Amino acid sequence: MKVTVVGAGNVGATCADVLAYREVVNEVILVDIKEGLAEGKALDIWEKAPINVYDTRTVGVSNDYSKTAGSDVVVITSGLPRKPGMSRDDLIETNAGIVKSVTENVIKYSPEAIVIIVSNPLDVMTYQAHLTSKFPRSKVMGMAGILDTARYRAFLAEALNVSPKEIQAVLMGGHGDTMVPLPRYTTVAGIPVTELIDSEKLDAIVQRTKTGGGELVKLMGTSAWYAPGAAAAQMVEAIVKDQRRVFPVCVKLEGEYGIDNCYLGVPVILGKNGIEKVIELELNEDEMAMLKESEGHVREVMSVLDKLNNK
Ligand code: NAI
Ligand code: 2OP
Repeated sequence: MKVTVVGAGNVGATCADVLAYREVVNEVILVDIKEGLAEGKALDIWEKAPINVYDTRTVGVSNDYSKTAGSDVVVITSGLPRKPGMSRDDLIETNAGIVKSVTENVIKYSPEAIVIIVSNPLDVMTYQAHLTSKFPRSKVMGMAGILDTARYRAFLAEALNVSPKEIQAVLMGGHGDTMVPLPRYTTVAGIPVTELIDSEKLDAIVQRTKTGGGELVKLMGTSAWYAPGAAAAQMVEAIVKDQRRVFPVCVKLEGEYGIDNCYLGVPVILGKNGIEKVIELELNEDEMAMLKESEGHVREVMSVLDKLNNK
């Protein structure tokens, strides 16, 4: 199996490293527009192989997509990251141009690939990749829900003083402050979380999750990469190993949840064909209202993208 990761910056290089370290595939091609960057990082990961004991071959290239030919999965992380004071949506014009040209190059050499978008604003960049590739929704998706859910699970594990492995949760909506964590679907080794934590603490954790990306931007002056890179790698693994894992993933909704033609995070089954199934939960009135609010926000940014594309 062969995977290409476009963008050898913080998230892309971390994703490539996790894919190699976990031997998810035989070959990882790292691409960047900056001369030497992808070559250097791929070489560094390859030189780590004897220490960490893996045999995944990592190869870096500067903008040469011929080397990516025949990739099974392509992860697109190229684009500007958030800086303090910026929202994810502020990145739209620059990153849309990058995602469009990268997608064109990727599908030219790997017309059968499954494409995972990471670049922000996530939901709308996934829409851009869909517009450019014209791939069906099963083959173009965005990574955000695994990351946002991981943040929520990590905060809960800390508050409850239990292993993060024990926290199961689902989170829906766009990758922004309108995301919808779902305490009703959160358990600690099968025990409803609401039986273990009071509502005030849980609300504070939900709020911290919603602004979790911004918390890290404030601390580091740029956005996060360890958890995002690992989350994208986890999606690749589910696809190439046909694991049929259930993850929140950004996908084009086609009537599910009463929402049509909008990119939003929802639980799906991920397997060898990409999105194998969109799972429809029975949301209550409050949860549905939050999902609709998130939809409204994503639709606004999608229409900004439509205007940019029609300029
Ligand atoms: P970074 O600046 O470290 O890396 C981005 C890389 O993309 C740079 O090396 C740059 O040279 C490269 N690049 C730019 N234009 C390119 C092109 N046309 N072709 C190939 N490479 C190109 O940024 P970082 O931290 O890796 O973040 C990448 C993107 O991922 C950002 O848009 C960021 O907002 C987003 N992100 C999304 C997350 C999510 O949950 N979906 C989480 C974290 C980051
Ligand atoms: C994050 O959530 C900024 O989307 C990026 O870390």
